[in-house]
Amino acid sequence: MQMPPEILNTFQQQLLSWFQEHQRDLPWRRSYDPYGVWVSEVMLQQTQVKTVLPYYERWMKRLPRLQDLASLPERELMGLWEGLGYYSRVRNLQKAAQAVCDQHQGVVPDSVEQLLQLPGVGRYTAGAIASIAYNKDAALVDGNVIRVFCRLDALEAPVNDRAQQQQIWARAEAALPSGQARYFNQALMELGALVCTPQNPSCLLCPVQTHCQAHQQGREAELPRPKPRVPPTAVTKAVALVQTEQGLLVRFRAHDQLMQGLWEVPTVEVPPEADEPEVLERWLVAELGGAWKVGAKQQTLTHRYTRFKATLNCYVVEGGGSRSLPEHWDWVTAETAAQFALPTVFRKLVAQLL
Ligand code: ADE
Repeated sequence: MQMPPEILNTFQQQLLSWFQEHQRDLPWRRSYDPYGVWVSEVMLQQTQVKTVLPYYERWMKRLPRLQDLASLPERELMGLWEGLGYYSRVRNLQKAAQAVCDQHQGVVPDSVEQLLQLPGVGRYTAGAIASIAYNKDAALVDGNVIRVFCRLDALEAPVNDRAQQQQIWARAEAALPSGQARYFNQALMELGALVCTPQNPSCLLCPVQTHCQAHQQGREAELPRPKPRVPPTAVTKAVALVQTEQGLLVRFRAHDQLMQGLWEVPTVEVPPEADEPEVLERWLVAELGGAWKVGAKQQTLTHRYTRFKATLNCYVVEGGGSRSLPEHWDWVTAETAAQFALPTVFRKLVAQLL
């Protein structure tokens, strides 16, 4: 629901004044450098500010300019992202940086239309860069903004409802005060992060409480409605623990759909009902040749990501390939472990074994 113009004007001013006074001091807010804003916004997708801060500081020290990112070898790139998860984000960020160098003389575009052409840049990121970095009149909607408008307007559909999200985009566009997008958009998100929180919102501290229908109806705890839960798909994998005097065997996920560009302790998915040691042995022979003997199950790990819940059964494996290791396979030792970008579950396993 739209607000009448005088009420909208009050709402905007209340929110902007609150932001001016209460915003967190965050490094990407110090200069609004477009490249820095972009990096921060990509890191902040799916990841909390507290987690992002040390990653952001290290990234900007190592890669202060867009050109530094465009030319960084993949191995180092993945190392800077290790632990943040959703690794396609960083590979797209680099591709987009390369496109900006090739097509825009290294200057991050300031229009939503041009930004949307870049790899990995969707409606949210385009709106964030145009508005926060350039203060262009572009709206944005993320999870915080959805929650804020669901409560303000007492919207009843679940948070992930597509039609309702479209409605919120239109609402965010209509609510935007011209010439103030940088502060207004961040204020909406900051309100969602600090006051209009998912649990126990601080309505008594809210600068726009008088506009909030959910609060007036005493329903702030009930809105927004959660998205319907889809149980994660269970997958079982067998992990080969191969340790020789050269180190622990690892494999580079060059072409895998998930976690591409990271290393792993060699892992193969096992179909339900299949004999795990047999599947693992056949896979090692196919990949590396030679003869392999899969021994005892040493431990079981579980790992959650996006839609999957993986059970990782780790087997001690002995034997060896018929030749030297092929491309994408290597030995890792305690001394070299830091040079391999590993998903968190494997980082822990490697630390334990070496
Ligand atoms: N979440 C993602 N981007 C943000 C920003 N710029 N300010 C506050 N919260 C955010």
